[in-house]
Amino acid sequence: MRNPLTKIEELERAEALDRFTEPLRAAVRALPLGPVRDVLHGTWQGHALHPTLVQIPVGTWTSAALLDLRGGNDRAARALVAVGLAAAAPAALSGAVDYAEQLPEHQRVGVVHAAANVTAVALYTASFVARRRPGRGRLLGLAGLTVASAGGFLGGHLAFRQGAGVNHADAVPHLLDPEWYAVGVPADFPAGEPVRRMAGEVPVVLVRDAAADAGNGNGAGGAAAGGGALHALADRCAHLAGPLSGGEVDDGCVTCPWHGSAFRLTDGACVSGPATAPQPAFEVREESGRVEVRLPAAEAAP
Ligand code: FES
Repeated sequence: MRNPLTKIEELERAEALDRFTEPLRAAVRALPLGPVRDVLHGTWQGHALHPTLVQIPVGTWTSAALLDLRGGNDRAARALVAVGLAAAAPAALSGAVDYAEQLPEHQRVGVVHAAANVTAVALYTASFVARRRPGRGRLLGLAGLTVASAGGFLGGHLAFRQGAGVNHADAVPHLLDPEWYAVGVPADFPAGEPVRRMAGEVPVVLVRDAAADAGNGNGAGGAAAGGGALHALADRCAHLAGPLSGGEVDDGCVTCPWHGSAFRLTDGACVSGPATAPQPAFEVREESGRVEVRLPAAEAAP
């Protein structure tokens, strides 16, 4: 029998879907959400908000299905369906803003995931209306749960197979030993320009403060000789592993060139999404004319 995952992998590569994914992405990006966009990403809580919000429709609709299957309280089942419908709107909006900042392969699966969930909402809306005649309402509810489950399966594939919404920098401490790594000489790092170097197997972006800021190094930065303080972060963005060294430096932050997440140079804190996790921040020192970096939390995996 053919592995069902093969079908989903075909979905990832189905460029025909791009005529839907691109306009949807543009429409979501054009929404005037302001700072609410980062709230919906979950930047404030350090991980994606969407999986948290979907708990409510999933939980209430599953509970309604159990009541329906047991021939239970129709009014209670109808109330559960209604709560799930009300909670579906913020869950969908948080998923949409995440979707708009993903890679094309993610968006192709994401648009089918979204279509399944929109269909589930339509079925549950019809179920809510039809529950004055419980038999029909229950059937529509069970159909909605079936479609929502298929949508949830695709959501699981997006998160755990494709890595959408997970922290792509989490493994960095386990790829390094807790020791100093030489990454160049002071002249290699002009002020305000991100420079990519390797610490063992891990790419690192180093940024020197503008000369006017010399001596202000704090947190993970600190090699002030030869100009402003030097700061070093893991180069692969926590959002989807984009190269921070290809980004812009402004106001003490480096901005990822892929989707615009901004990370504070002094400590790696994520100051704007779509990333939700901080960027691993290195200590920097100058020793015997060499610039060296060390990750305090490094603990190489056995
Ligand atoms: S890879 Fe998406 S913001 Fe960096």
